[in-house]
Amino acid sequence: MRRRVVVTHPLPGECLEALAPHCEIRVLEGGVRYLSEQSGEERAACHGLICLLTDPIDTPLLEALPNLRFVSSVSVGVDHIDVEALTARSIPVGNTPGVLVDATADTAFALLLAAARRVAEGDRYIRGGNWRPESRWSPDFFLGKDVSGSTLGIVGLGAIGQAVSRRAVGFGMNVLGWTPSGRNVPGVDKVSLEELLLRSDFVSVHLALTPETRNLLDAARIATMKPGAVLVNTARGGIVDESALAAALDSGQLYAAGLDVFAREPIAPDDPLLRHPGVVVVPHIGSATTLTRAKMVDLAVANAAAALQGQPMPHCVNPEVYPLALSRQIT
Ligand code: GLV
Repeated sequence: MRRRVVVTHPLPGECLEALAPHCEIRVLEGGVRYLSEQSGEERAACHGLICLLTDPIDTPLLEALPNLRFVSSVSVGVDHIDVEALTARSIPVGNTPGVLVDATADTAFALLLAAARRVAEGDRYIRGGNWRPESRWSPDFFLGKDVSGSTLGIVGLGAIGQAVSRRAVGFGMNVLGWTPSGRNVPGVDKVSLEELLLRSDFVSVHLALTPETRNLLDAARIATMKPGAVLVNTARGGIVDESALAAALDSGQLYAAGLDVFAREPIAPDDPLLRHPGVVVVPHIGSATTLTRAKMVDLAVANAAAALQGQPMPHCVNPEVYPLALSRQIT
């Protein structure tokens, strides 16, 4: 029987052609959950998975896929995957780092500027028919918050956090940074997380969601943020306590927030966060440019192609599975 790679959603372009010589390809329409509903024979045929960040790859799924030999996710974050469970089974997990750095940093900065200068609110104001002759330009009309000369605190100084710091310097901001690894980054004043929250006018989150970072910005930490600060999150919703954030916005402690990611996606339309006029939201589009997404798909396919050819994946989050994983690949 030919090895089968299951792709959980249709992917753009002809990207899967590179895999065709090595396997049979099955593209699902609606995500990995459809795979769990297939017959035992279908599931047993699954040798590799190319998935998205919306596909939970957990132990029940792994138990349903006895011949799974690799997982390649079209994402840099892998919090939707139980990596520990896959590592225990010597199954490599691929991701797509690097190529989405600038697109995601741009999104963070777009949210920062939009929140500071009330861009979404102004848009709603005009479309709502509120900009009338009696409410024209005036010295105190639609005032926002200065960006230049203010302090940005970057939580997480990996590649995306560093790209945000370069943008911030260009906008005349002072940049503070904190990262669990304690690394030094040129142009960034390294401080403790406590000091960063206390001093920053803007805080932007750039960490992976892990058991250590889940709820990192909890109610207690949010309460220590500088009065009038703005929180930007393009990393993962689970890092920020959203109820505490909504409360801090409602009380006026925080000025605004720019959010691309949420604890539950899609966020419910009646979520308390959406009630606050200073909250600017976009639907998890940090890396959503045509070129960036094409590069992410290419990397995910390259990871799968390597696995199919009995080689280590070029971008593997659990490389400790090698060399054992190679001997388990049926080539
Ligand atoms: C996007 O959130 C990603 O993890 O690629």
